[in-house]
Amino acid sequence: MTATARTVRELRAMISGWRREGLTVGFVPTMGALHDGHISLVELALQKADRCVVSIFVNPRQFGPTEDLDKYPRQLAADMERLKAAGTHLAFTPSVDEMYPAGFATKVSVGGPSQGLETDFRPHFFDGVATVVSKLLLQVSADCAVFGEKDYQQLCVIRQLSRDLDIPTEIIGGPTMRDSEGLAMSSRNAYLSVDELGIARTLNVILLAAATAIAAGEDPDSACIKARSAIGRAGFSSVDYVAARESDTLAPWQKNRPGRVLAAAWLGKTRLIDNLEIPAI
Ligand code: PAJ
Repeated sequence: MTATARTVRELRAMISGWRREGLTVGFVPTMGALHDGHISLVELALQKADRCVVSIFVNPRQFGPTEDLDKYPRQLAADMERLKAAGTHLAFTPSVDEMYPAGFATKVSVGGPSQGLETDFRPHFFDGVATVVSKLLLQVSADCAVFGEKDYQQLCVIRQLSRDLDIPTEIIGGPTMRDSEGLAMSSRNAYLSVDELGIARTLNVILLAAATAIAAGEDPDSACIKARSAIGRAGFSSVDYVAARESDTLAPWQKNRPGRVLAAAWLGKTRLIDNLEIPAI
């Protein structure tokens, strides 16, 4: 049975009850349209804590004026079924007014890893994410919160903000869940036609080739330029970026350091992102 809280007051009442019983709490923030990637984070939270809270909130502040806020898939009944099957204890489903009441005037803006990559193309994005995630982390006050490596830059930004703001919740990264052909699961995959799905499935293959070539000694800039052309040839409409970065700071990758290759590309009106580790040799 998954309970629901619509307000911060209801959420806190539920969580204080657990705290009085000495139970630990894990938290997974989402925007709904749940797939196996989200559920893998719930499973991770349940391994780490006695109780699992999942938030479902399509955060208007992280969408730009021309982005898909109105079109973003909303399917609360199906999401609740999935959460119940996964053993989630509480779904937090606040309204926009509950999160941003009249007079709301604060913005959380993170430097460091939020610079470049996504920010070059979606300048509003990380302020919106950082503001809502700060609120959610403080509202839930969990022992740990799980975020996917699928949104790798987002994970780095959240680690940075929780460190800088002394938020005592441990931030845990969960591996990217992929379909049988390696396509990273995403709520936005629902927008893709059958033909586009076929093209989308080449992205991880191209990134793997780039990550492997870089690990084997190829110059990272030239490997990323080659990957960019390969993505174009595969049928993507355009490429926002392909970059090799250090895993923790997202500064340009230096030899023998942990690294990731990150990319964002468009298929028609759908924007896909993915990233892979540069294997250590
Ligand atoms: P959303 O896109 O719903 O993703 C919620 C969480 O699921 C994020 O931590 C994301 O990285 C993770 N996730 C998405 N696809 C995944 C996959 N294939 N494998 C593993 N994890 C995956 O990210 C957001 O929502 C929002 O920005 C949010 C953090 C909730 C703030 O509004």
